[in-house]
Amino acid sequence: MYYGDNLQVLRTLPTNSIDLIYIDPPFFSGAEYNVIWGDTNEIRTFSDIWDGGLPTYLVWLNARLWEMRRVLKGTGSIYVHCDYHASHYIKAGMDKTFGYEYFQNGISWQRSLPHGNAGNRFASSTDTILIYNKSKEHTWNLLFLQHRDEYVKEFYRFRESDGRVYRLISCITPNKNRRTWSTTGTALGESGSTLAKEWNECTRRACSCTRRAGSRPIRGTSTP
Ligand SMILES: C[S@@+](CC[C@H](N)C(=O)[O-])C[C@H]1O[C@@H](n2cnc3c(N)ncnc32)[C@H](O)[C@@H]1O
Repeated sequence: MYYGDNLQVLRTLPTNSIDLIYIDPPFFSGAEYNVIWGDTNEIRTFSDIWDGGLPTYLVWLNARLWEMRRVLKGTGSIYVHCDYHASHYIKAGMDKTFGYEYFQNGISWQRSLPHGNAGNRFASSTDTILIYNKSKEHTWNLLFLQHRDEYVKEFYRFRESDGRVYRLISCITPNKNRRTWSTTGTALGESGSTLAKEWNECTRRACSCTRRAGSRPIRGTSTP
């Protein structure tokens, strides 16, 4: 744990040494903030008002993002939390720093109790988290969530002899760019290539699969 200006700290860190970076920097909101600090309820203040306006803010942030790219490993990724005040400028800056092609996508982060001023506009209830990878070899761990019980009860109406529940789903896709799955355990790509490995992973993880027109529906089980 370091305490200090992150630019100075970043400069002491070795190149290609960090797996994952998340930052929640000032957003260029034009406000002063009081932050309740830790268990002591100590109030710390930080200013998000920038002499020189947006250009000053972007120079400040981009200098740090360049250092962050340097310390990130080739397999690493960076998540930058921002909001409507400057997210589009930050995106443009990161396209330069990290490369447009390394933008993974963004997360829309929604507050549960939004209190944006809705008097003369829609309330601002979301922030954005921009995600960039350092290279095409970035690490990505697939995320899975348990289905809600009610969902399983409603849709997974069939049961295997070993007790696992499953559903019968449509396997037909009219989209030529999407893969169509056969019932024999092979996936047929655009050119008819076999993607059995992916198929096995798909059935193991029980994700939705599509099938060729005319074949029997395949089973999508709820548990691996
Ligand atoms: C949007 S707030 C994030 C607050 C924090 N994520 C939280 O939930 O409490 C921005 C934070 O960046 C810190 N900050 C501003 N300039 C900094 C710098 N040069 N180095 C390190 N931290 C800085 C501020 O003190 C402030 O706590």
